[in-house]
Amino acid sequence: MSDPTCVLVTRRLPDGGTDPLHEAALTVVQREEDDPYDHAELVALAPTVDGIVCLLTDRIDREVLAAGAAGRLRVVANVAVGYDNIDVDAATELGVAVCNTPGVLDETTADLAFALILAASRRCSEAERDLRAGRWVGWGVNQYLGHDVHGATLGLVGYGRIGRAVARRAAGFGMRVLHHTRHDTGEAGWVADLHDLLATADVVSLHVPLTPHTQHLIGAAELARMRRSAVLVNTSRGPVVDEAALAAALTEGRIFAAGLDVFEHEPQVHPDLLQAPHTVLLPHIGSATHATRTRMARLACSGVVAVLAGHRPPNLVTA
Ligand code: GLV
Repeated sequence: MSDPTCVLVTRRLPDGGTDPLHEAALTVVQREEDDPYDHAELVALAPTVDGIVCLLTDRIDREVLAAGAAGRLRVVANVAVGYDNIDVDAATELGVAVCNTPGVLDETTADLAFALILAASRRCSEAERDLRAGRWVGWGVNQYLGHDVHGATLGLVGYGRIGRAVARRAAGFGMRVLHHTRHDTGEAGWVADLHDLLATADVVSLHVPLTPHTQHLIGAAELARMRRSAVLVNTSRGPVVDEAALAAALTEGRIFAAGLDVFEHEPQVHPDLLQAPHTVLLPHIGSATHATRTRMARLACSGVVAVLAGHRPPNLVTA
């Protein structure tokens, strides 16, 4: 009898998340405890399984993929829409399919981006920190003054599904919405030059994938183009922003505030950002709702099932 078809699931997934694997009668390989596999363990396990369901915190590089492809590995599915933790070029060369979770987290992530827009513009985090620490001495006419979100101009950098979901929310706040993408969308509000968008927007929200092109897309030069009253929000990937440059811009009052859900070296946060004024800092929770994380897990697992059954799933990243 041939070996059963096996899928490594690197971490515990939300309840019901692995159902597609069980329904397809695949053998799920999973640790008893929810401890991450280190890189050497992934290299060792990859050739022994047909598929891997991983998280964005697992580095699936050429070494893991080559080890896997030399064995029986045929597919890797990330429980995330972003897949910069996977070497997709290597996977393509080695014939390993890669899947992600597009579509199912757009509204949830857009909700969080909007929460950051509101919280950063209105200084909610520092005001709450003061209250909890007993530093609030009573209502003051000049206390915690921020900037209005309603009626402001929102500049979206990247205009995919999540950026568009943020734009829909902004319409409800009477915001003027502009977007910048490298290629003309042909839609109202497109701004060809990133620096022009940055100079115009009251709130800049980032919605690009992390690629060599978008690494430090927002650096010192870009921050210098933003308005002193501007707010920067990042729910995409940390390395899209040069954190040291951002911390300096905030500390020197060259931009007003930042709302960040992602960081350059997670889980580390740049110490200067922790000290910088007017910051709302969240631990990468953009898609963190029960319903959405379950949908993401199921979609990733369904991609693995489809590839192993010889089908082309809609969430395939590789060609
Ligand atoms: C989360 O950051 C994701 O890419 O899904």
